[in-house]
Amino acid sequence: MQCRFIIYRFDPEKDSQPHYQTYLVDAEPTDKVLDCLNKIRWEQDASLAFRASCAHGICGSDAMLINSNVALACQKLIRDFKTGNNFVIEPLPLFQVIKDLVVDLDPFFEKYRAVKPFLINDEPPPDKERLQDPEDQKTIEPALRCILCASCTAACPINRADPDYLGPAALLRAFRYLYDSRDTAAGSRMADLDQESGVWGCKTMRWCTDVCPKGIPVTKCLTQIKKAIKKNEKA
Ligand code: SF4
Ligand code: FES
Repeated sequence: MQCRFIIYRFDPEKDSQPHYQTYLVDAEPTDKVLDCLNKIRWEQDASLAFRASCAHGICGSDAMLINSNVALACQKLIRDFKTGNNFVIEPLPLFQVIKDLVVDLDPFFEKYRAVKPFLINDEPPPDKERLQDPEDQKTIEPALRCILCASCTAACPINRADPDYLGPAALLRAFRYLYDSRDTAAGSRMADLDQESGVWGCKTMRWCTDVCPKGIPVTKCLTQIKKAIKKNEKA
């Protein structure tokens, strides 16, 4: 079948304004949107810029807007769409465009680093690694699936309105360490999150959960942090 891809193009070194460019691609219903973008770049227009690496929903690099919905291009098949054979492809919202579908994720990773995304443990180290009971690990298992694709943060309406809000991805990473049974910094982590720019910025709109390509219950994890802060309980 022939598909029409209408793709956002913007090269700040050449263009004063973004524009849309149309490409026709022969595709199978089982082709991924990423396959089609690759075909365009390899066979029609090598100047088209987008990020992708693993092609299997692991690296998190190809999040974009596909027919107005945030998604990974490698996780969407042509047959998944009921919009005929037309596809409008745009960069992730919220972030500044570097070129075409490539956005600047530095602000996203700054917020990620702000939640101290590493294990803090002030007890003497054991002879080998710090072991974790499998039952304790289950608590943080959903957050471990996060591939930092930024889809949730880009989709979150609060993030679009408040540039200071940490956003769902960073807060989910905070959850991952807050509830890690080997981490001893729960008190200071909760104090850091007990802010309007922290977990209280979340208004439970659930857009993050809806768009997450890994099926992570992001809103539920954030709600768990809120409840722990309200009860003043140590995670
Ligand atoms: S929580 Fe889901 S949508 Fe958000 S960054 Fe992680 S994998 Fe992507
Ligand atoms: S290319 Fe790696 S997640 Fe899509």
